[in-house]
Amino acid sequence: LVLNEFFQCLSSHSQSSIPITNSLYTKTNSSYSTILESTIDNLRCYSPTTIKPLLIITPMEESHIQAAIYCSKTYGLQLRVRSGGHDYEGLSFVADSPFLMLDMTHFRQIDVNIEENSAWVQAGAILGELYYKIAEKSKIHGFSAGLCPTIGVGGHFSGGGFGPMVRKYGVAADHIVDVRMINSKGRILTRASMGENLFWAIRGGGGASFGVIIAYKINLVPVPPTVSVFSVSKTLEQGASKVLYRYQEVVDKFPEDLFIRVSILPTTNQSGNKTMLVAFNSLFLGSAKDHLSLIQTSFPELGVQSKDCKEMSWIQSVLFFAGYTNGESIDTLLDRTPQFKGYFKAKSDFVKAPIPESGLEGLWKILLEGDNSLMFFLPFGGKMNEIPESAIPFPHRKGNIYNIQYVARWTEQENPQAEKHIAWIRNLYDYMAPYVSKNPRASYLNYRDLDLGQNGNTKTNYSQALIWGSKYFKNNFYQLVRVKTRVDPGNFFRNEQSIPPFKMEV
Ligand code: FDA
Repeated sequence: LVLNEFFQCLSSHSQSSIPITNSLYTKTNSSYSTILESTIDNLRCYSPTTIKPLLIITPMEESHIQAAIYCSKTYGLQLRVRSGGHDYEGLSFVADSPFLMLDMTHFRQIDVNIEENSAWVQAGAILGELYYKIAEKSKIHGFSAGLCPTIGVGGHFSGGGFGPMVRKYGVAADHIVDVRMINSKGRILTRASMGENLFWAIRGGGGASFGVIIAYKINLVPVPPTVSVFSVSKTLEQGASKVLYRYQEVVDKFPEDLFIRVSILPTTNQSGNKTMLVAFNSLFLGSAKDHLSLIQTSFPELGVQSKDCKEMSWIQSVLFFAGYTNGESIDTLLDRTPQFKGYFKAKSDFVKAPIPESGLEGLWKILLEGDNSLMFFLPFGGKMNEIPESAIPFPHRKGNIYNIQYVARWTEQENPQAEKHIAWIRNLYDYMAPYVSKNPRASYLNYRDLDLGQNGNTKTNYSQALIWGSKYFKNNFYQLVRVKTRVDPGNFFRNEQSIPPFKMEV
């Protein structure tokens, strides 16, 4: 590729007031690495040998994006789009053939309209900024999306997006009411001009297969002025297995104002031996008094006491679930530095029947052998039971008690042995097979896992892609492929797990 020619192409195809040349970073530019590394969350996907983008574009205007699409197509380059950079397999900033990276960092405007109960949020905004802006305008409005404030809106909303209000309101994508995006022909589309099929596809089917999302319009959700939270932990010695078993029996049946998420991580007990800590973090959309009385009646085994329940505003509960429990200011939510940057491999499952205590015992054994593991159980039920599986491509609804996320983490020093940690988590995943959803064994797109299968660089067929596609989207996969075939038959927007068109023309 002759870069000068390519730059000329970009300049002549972006009719904007701000020259695109101010937004281009090649490998020789001194800011290239800083920009590239700025939002990478999983360092496993970023090594000296990873293929880096030939060019990073940080568009300032829509016409810069249109030019990037046109010129990448003309010169046969791939285009990867990055909003928050939190992709678990790094698909927004890594590719196996020469590519450009479009970094949406300057597209992060958020316009909250309380009278209309809605907001326009650009793809490059992070969740923390969105939550902050809503709370700035109202104490009784919120939004149902993920827990980590540094996640980008662009990837998160287009893959689903769930957090502490999922039982009350469903996933983030359930609340998208309009979108502004650019398709493979460089056309700017909104809901009215794209048609309902494409609008359906980008709400859970992943934006990366269909175009560049510029902004979403979302409906806000009501929250009470005061909510209540608690965090209560049990080690294995303190009877965690029995409590966790009971948790599985009740957690999806609670009233939908109540949410309890479980984190499981290694710790050391009083005798200095390694054990597992099972932490129960809860949000109740109401008072501490009602929170406590509900838990004491329906889940007394957890042993929650009145001193555990703390009242706060909804925005403070966002900080609490993000792990900021030392009185940090809500301005912390505006910090775009990835909160958990590190080396990891993650996987996910959905559980439809309680895992028996014997199954939990086997799980502890594997977790105690792994060094720095982390697991999360995030409950469904409530509103999730009411939304049909085909309403949007995100299909994980009725019948799921909770979602599991497994994470193996390691340090930079341990990274040369990354394969050992990856083998460990694959073994854990195999062990869990009898206890989780089957036919298909479902997975969550936003917890992307390339072990499930991937597209070949140039050739992929429907039946090959169906293997991972049915896990992420169940019966919605077929419809996603139909939409893809109609809107991007040449498969310009692609990655290792993008939706393939029926007939690949690349
Ligand atoms: P990133 O920019 O890496 O993009 C992810 C994918 O979307 C890529 O394929 C990318 O090309 C595509 N994409 C991004 N922007 C686009 C755009 N503008 N147009 C088209 N395609 C675009 N999930 C959850 O549901 N609940 C949770 O609580 C959490 N918590 C969490 C914590 C941490 C620490 C991490 C790392 C991740 C999570 N997640 C999560 C998962 C998260 O939802 C998932 O990684 C999202 O895809 C991240 O979106 P980003 O925009 O940050 O990623």
